[in-house]
Amino acid sequence: MIKTRITEMFGVETPICMGGMTGVGYAPLVAAAADAGALAFLTAHMFTTAEALEQEIAKVRSLTDKPFGINLTILPSFNPIPYDEYRRVICETGIKIVETAGRNPVDHLPDFKANGVKVIHKCTSARHSVSAAKLGVDVISIDGFECAGHPGEDDVTLMVLLPATVDALAAIGDIPVIASGGMADGRSLMAALMLGAEGVNMGTRFLATQECQIHENVKKAIVANTERDTLLINRTLRNTARVARNAVAEEVVRIQQDTTKTIEDVRELVAGVRGRENVLAGGDVDGGIWTAGQSQGLIHDIPTCKELVRNIMKQAEDLARIRVPSLLA
Ligand SMILES: Cc1cc2nc3c(=O)[nH]c(=O)nc-3n(C[C@H](O)[C@H](O)[C@H](O)COP(=O)(O)O)c2cc1C
Repeated sequence: MIKTRITEMFGVETPICMGGMTGVGYAPLVAAAADAGALAFLTAHMFTTAEALEQEIAKVRSLTDKPFGINLTILPSFNPIPYDEYRRVICETGIKIVETAGRNPVDHLPDFKANGVKVIHKCTSARHSVSAAKLGVDVISIDGFECAGHPGEDDVTLMVLLPATVDALAAIGDIPVIASGGMADGRSLMAALMLGAEGVNMGTRFLATQECQIHENVKKAIVANTERDTLLINRTLRNTARVARNAVAEEVVRIQQDTTKTIEDVRELVAGVRGRENVLAGGDVDGGIWTAGQSQGLIHDIPTCKELVRNIMKQAEDLARIRVPSLLA
């Protein structure tokens, strides 16, 4: 057993988290990951109303009695997102853990604090970590350049970003850090702990699990893909996203080589609904943009969440028991 401040703080069996995932982080996967001993997050903005979110929370609770949290991705959107209503539901339904991302959660913190909700803020730079810590978040999850989704614009990989963040936060207090981006197995977990993290956060690795309700073709593509099979899109719009390499992503990159192109020039190609319907549901892996990180190169199987978490913990514990002492011999 590996005990860290994350396992203690959140009452979970392992220091493994499953981050919020648009189009993926629904009740069955969240409950399966939670049941396996991970801290998993239901992704709020997939539900257009707070009532729908409340129903999904109830669904998770009908499937597991383990702790889980809600991901609040705070992003500008064409369709207004009912963040205040989500917050009300989170507080009223007794959810005690929230993962925030996108921008800092300053508007939400007073209510969360008043209701005993702990906030893990996920960000992509040491300086944003420090700002969020000063605002009063409880934990920082730091997403390296390897990660699926939005790695920010600084391009610092986790090997440097994680200890740099740990040091920056140590200078202002005592706030636990979660390592996110590129984490996939027991080696990642042990390395992250050695670099000063108290846990790891994974997205891509949980896509290739039995309980993840996406098309088998996507899971098989992740297993077949290597660490080179991602592309960065929307860099010219300063909204960089790391996505799986496919025909549509290559087309977007080609268009954006002309830096005068705007979102209008790629809007149809990058539409989230296209990726969700054609790829995640339909299984056409070239049918739209879908999110995946470099950790694809470390994913070789499609286990159940229980098997995945068990394997990661066994590998990490074996490393702690055998590899680390052997270095001192
Ligand atoms: C399909 C997919 C969708 C994601 N959607 C979100 C999201 O809506 N909000 C968010 O904060 N992070 C999102 N992420 C990022 C993950 O929560 C996590 O930070 C990231 O995947 C970690 O990097 P990894 O994929 O290398 O493990 C998504 C990741 C994936 C793979």
